Amino acid sequence: MKKIYFNTEHSYLEYLTDAEDLGYEKTWLKGNNVIKIFNTRGFISSGFIRSFSSRIINNAHKLNKLQIPSLKISEELVFQYDKRKSGVVYKYIPGCTVRDLPRKDITKDLVTNLGKFIAEFHQKGVYFRAMHLGNIIYYNKTFALIDVAKIHFYPWPLFILTRARAFRRLIKYKKDIAHFKQSNLELLLSRYRLESNFSKRENLLFNFYLNMMQSFNYKTIKLLIGLVIFMLILLWLI
Ligand SMILES: Nc1ncnc2c1ncn2[C@@H]1O[C@H](COP(=O)(O)OP(=O)(O)OP(=O)(O)O)[C@@H](O)[C@H]1O
Ligand SMILES: [Mg+2]
Repeated sequence: MKKIYFNTEHSYLEYLTDAEDLGYEKTWLKGNNVIKIFNTRGFISSGFIRSFSSRIINNAHKLNKLQIPSLKISEELVFQYDKRKSGVVYKYIPGCTVRDLPRKDITKDLVTNLGKFIAEFHQKGVYFRAMHLGNIIYYNKTFALIDVAKIHFYPWPLFILTRARAFRRLIKYKKDIAHFKQSNLELLLSRYRLESNFSKRENLLFNFYLNMMQSFNYKTIKLLIGLVIFMLILLWLI
């Protein structure tokens, strides 16, 4: 992987000349390339142990090997003057995120194919933790994943709970769903279940987890589980 080094902020700003801001000064479009910058926040962060740029490079490489359309990263950006910063450069995909598609373009066909696409990478053990409509690009009648710094790769198809957790993010953005339409979300989920060859029991379990996640705050569920484990340990000790 080719590396580009910046030893002063000035050299970095110079590099950004003519680049168009695609979002919050973190994602830039320069010619045919996208420049993505990561900032490690706080005192304690896993970003200090392993930079977000090395994670996204690694993940994009693995997705590529699994034949899941995603980013084609060409360069890594190294900020010698600020260790909290890292970045990558990848090819611009000439499409549009599913979030930004005009309503008229969100057809039953597209939704059906999206369900199939998600089922395929879940089958390959890919748990895309940032899976929402703004991180899936539609182009040339196919889909591609962007923002792939947070992915877990399992050597087996995802468990039902992990699948439901993956959808939690997508469903959470109410504005996205209002635009995408509730009926399309239902079609997406039913197509996803079908393509994943769920048994009756798996269908029930998946729906149960999804409903749980929609009805309760996920943090509350985690806290409750933690509390139950703590009580069990306490009971075992006394
Ligand atoms: N490879 C790409 N091809 C086409 N457009 C892209 C590409 N990468 C990013 N974009 C556009 O830039 C926008 C922002 O990109 P990205 O999702 O990487 O960052 P972000 O969502 O702002 O950051 P984060 O999710 O880390 O807060 C996307 O919504 C999309 O419109
Ligand atoms: Mg994003």
